[in-house]
Amino acid sequence: MEKATSILPPHIKLSHSLIDLPRVGLGTFKLAGSEVTSSVSRALEIGYRHIDTAVIYKNEELISSALKQHGIAREEVFITSKISPYQQGAERARAAALEILQRLDSSYVDLLLIHWPGASKTKTTDPANAKLRLESWRVLEELYEQGKLKAIGVSNYEESHLKELASHAKIMPMVNQVEVHPQRPNTCLRQLCQDLGIAVVAYASLGCGHLLQNPIVLDVAQQTGKSPAQVLLRWGLQKGCAVIPKAANPGHLIAAGELLNWELPGDLEARLDGLENGTKYCWDPSGIA
Ligand SMILES: NC(=O)c1ccc[n+]([C@@H]2O[C@H](COP(=O)([O-])OP(=O)(O)OC[C@H]3O[C@@H](n4cnc5c(N)ncnc54)[C@H](OP(=O)(O)O)[C@@H]3O)[C@@H](O)[C@H]2O)c1
Repeated sequence: MEKATSILPPHIKLSHSLIDLPRVGLGTFKLAGSEVTSSVSRALEIGYRHIDTAVIYKNEELISSALKQHGIAREEVFITSKISPYQQGAERARAAALEILQRLDSSYVDLLLIHWPGASKTKTTDPANAKLRLESWRVLEELYEQGKLKAIGVSNYEESHLKELASHAKIMPMVNQVEVHPQRPNTCLRQLCQDLGIAVVAYASLGCGHLLQNPIVLDVAQQTGKSPAQVLLRWGLQKGCAVIPKAANPGHLIAAGELLNWELPGDLEARLDGLENGTKYCWDPSGIA
């Protein structure tokens, strides 16, 4: 697989899209109320230009307000949102996308993802999941062609879901957002994404905070003089992914430059690779038909 070089450019080029994906973004799952304003404004201050949200995070309006309050121009910030499992299918997905535009108070979304390959209230083994997610994909293709979505993609799609989509899509997804960290590097899936020209956005890079106390991570941090969070995020970047750490505490945010401009030496990257054990901190899409 292609290996990232030491100093990484701040953006990843997306296939079929005129916009580039900033390699480092702010995750916002569970950010609510004043936390949104403080984290977003701190993130902008230290150079972040990419914010990851979703309908189920219920904070799109707060993010839009925080951006306005800061005064940054809309086109300066790359916003990702995601339609939820309960919004799968043609009509619901279309309504969901238009509601996102309203909540973001914007004529476009930079990147809209299908959050999950399954549909709510549908058994994981039910073939209806495949029918509904393809209908949702058709809506994303249409809104992309209309310019309402600058880029489109998926999240939590496994190899089977991507291969199925590849055989039906008019426009291939530009991004797959999936759980990637040293305990779960998702190597085969990332290889398939690379082969299909799909950029990978890694979520839960810090293992939702759990990996920050891992003894190997602490040791690698000590040897590099970096923090455990820097080491884990840099590991994800060196695997070619974009990263979207979440921090309710603005003091936890690490400037993108401090992640892009140094290299985790090969032997220490290999020590982190050695943590692979399949641990998953978030939901598991592997059984979804
Ligand atoms: N597509 C999906 O299905 C999906 C699923 C999960 C997540 N995501 C996205 O990915 C983002 C990141 O994932 P995540 O929020 O699950 O977990 P994460 O980024 O792996 O970990 C977040 C945790 O790490 C802590 N933290 C962050 N930076 C730190 C630092 N420098 N030092 C010490 N602690 C630090 C945070 O603490 P504080 O909050 O207290 O600062 C928080 O507890 C989400 O916010 C969301 O945008 C997507």
